[in-house]
Amino acid sequence: MPSTSDDGRDSVLAERREDAVNAFLRATPALYRRDIGIHPHAAAWAAQTDNTATSLFLTGPIGVGKTHTAWQSARNWVAAHITRTSRRPRVETWRSTALFDALRHDNPDWNVRTLTRQLQEADLLYIDDLAAARVSPTGWTQERLYEIFDERYINRRPCLVTCDVLPGATGDIVGDRVQSRLREMFRGGVLLLEGADRRAGAAA
Ligand SMILES: Nc1ncnc2c1ncn2[C@@H]1O[C@H](COP(=O)(O)OP(=O)(O)OP(=O)(O)O)[C@@H](O)[C@H]1O
Ligand SMILES: [Mg+2]
Repeated sequence: MPSTSDDGRDSVLAERREDAVNAFLRATPALYRRDIGIHPHAAAWAAQTDNTATSLFLTGPIGVGKTHTAWQSARNWVAAHITRTSRRPRVETWRSTALFDALRHDNPDWNVRTLTRQLQEADLLYIDDLAAARVSPTGWTQERLYEIFDERYINRRPCLVTCDVLPGATGDIVGDRVQSRLREMFRGGVLLLEGADRRAGAAA
């Protein structure tokens, strides 16, 4: 039977977890705040807390639920990574088009060096719609992507990516050296979501 002090520690943990999930929800786009059931592979990924964490690559056709699954997975991941004592994990969430743009040049909100470091060191990096950009990043942006992904790769920091093409087809976007690292980071972590465009169903 748990002691009173165990109960106290459990309630501290529950409270820290709730605070962290609520903070994450505030930064989540409104459409994706609703809790959904996710594929068991995504649920298992979000629940893993060891230091050899793999990354998760969600692929599938338009409207199948990749982005919503990713936000839900990231939310679950945050909850799973709260402990009674450690600091709250830092999650960076970016649409690929905004990310490539941000890495291209300094702007009033950040400089590229600082942003690169933040993306290297975040506990989880989530990039939505990796293949969305009509114009692929150029040499300079690909170099920043290399710095980000190489640092994450060598430190085994997890990434969460949604993309409407398979991971083998992103080389033109991220460049060969990043592509090689992504291949290893996502080995065993590619989840193909199958089904119809859920937006079409909603309109019917
Ligand atoms: N498991 C689910 N249960 C209920 N609704 C869902 C689920 N997954 C996604 N949806 C809803 O379906 C719609 C499309 O989902 P989402 O935006 O995640 O698709 P997507 O695969 O990312 O599309 P795209 O390829 O265009 O980016 C949204 O309204 C979303 O809230
Ligand atoms: Mg999407």
